[in-house]
Amino acid sequence: MGSRPAQQFADPFHVIAPTGYAVMQAQVAQGTATAAAPLLTVRDVSVVFGGITALNGVSFDMQKGQVLALIGPNGAGKTTLFNCLSRLYQPSAGDILMDGVSILTRPPHRISEIGIGRTFQNVALFPNLSVLDNARVGAHSHTNSDIISDSLRLPRSRSVEVAINKKVLRILDYLELTHLAHTNVAGLPFGTQKRVELARALATDPTILLLDEPAGGLNHEEVYVLGDLVKRIRDERHITVLLVEHHMGMVMKIADHIVVLNFGRKLAEGTPKQIQNDPEVLKAYLGDTAK
Ligand SMILES: Nc1ncnc2c1ncn2[C@@H]1O[C@H](COP(=O)(O)OP(=O)(O)OP(=O)(O)O)[C@@H](O)[C@H]1O
Ligand SMILES: [Mg+2]
Repeated sequence: MGSRPAQQFADPFHVIAPTGYAVMQAQVAQGTATAAAPLLTVRDVSVVFGGITALNGVSFDMQKGQVLALIGPNGAGKTTLFNCLSRLYQPSAGDILMDGVSILTRPPHRISEIGIGRTFQNVALFPNLSVLDNARVGAHSHTNSDIISDSLRLPRSRSVEVAINKKVLRILDYLELTHLAHTNVAGLPFGTQKRVELARALATDPTILLLDEPAGGLNHEEVYVLGDLVKRIRDERHITVLLVEHHMGMVMKIADHIVVLNFGRKLAEGTPKQIQNDPEVLKAYLGDTAK
């Protein structure tokens, strides 16, 4: 958040790796593939808190299958935009469209129905519930079972439960959490708790996964594993990912497209290579020494 000390980047943009999406972009550029309509459109979004303009007319598109990273120095407006996408904040102006339809009329607890799943920067799990039960919370956000049929354990409810358990156990297996299924999350290491959050978000069957600083608090090895996992989620589960992240090594390695915010405005957007060579971006991160 704004109070955090500015991060130091001796060499902020040092890792680049082409991805499947980058290959597809090249095909579009060569005319061997056709560009699709964007999955998500952020259009002229502004957010004002009292006298502070946290976001000022920000626009960009996110394509299906992309890993899009939202980066920028401290206080740039990344979390504010993330919270608009997950419907925690209402923009003062502008619109956010998914498949061409505004999401701004939808309350936050109903965004999973349209396929938007999220994790939280500081991990928001139920500490005294097991890994399995925490992940099941995500799957429940999608069922039609109501509290009365649940408590009476009516047949429809039981079959829904069986289906949910099966699905969630498959997700735990995918994230290598099966051995912890019946362990309370409270005592688990932070990196493992973040994976449980990911399991809960995947259990909502998202089309778009919003990740808020997933590498925050992880060690070098954990960040490497996480980056790989995010790429696999996109490639194997065909989920589009929007990532707010300070860890430039991870961003440059896994992002197809990067949007850079600075002082609430979009400073630049492009491929990792374009962004790491953009003098304005370097100046924003490194100050005048980058001139
Ligand atoms: N709820 C709020 N009320 C008032 N001002 C806020 C609020 N949330 C954010 N701001 C302000 O809006 C601006 C953008 O903040 P935001 O948290 O979106 O930045 P950020 O890019 O996520 O920064 P960081 O990298 O430090 O997390 C900052 O000036 C911040 O102080
Ligand atoms: Mg933030």
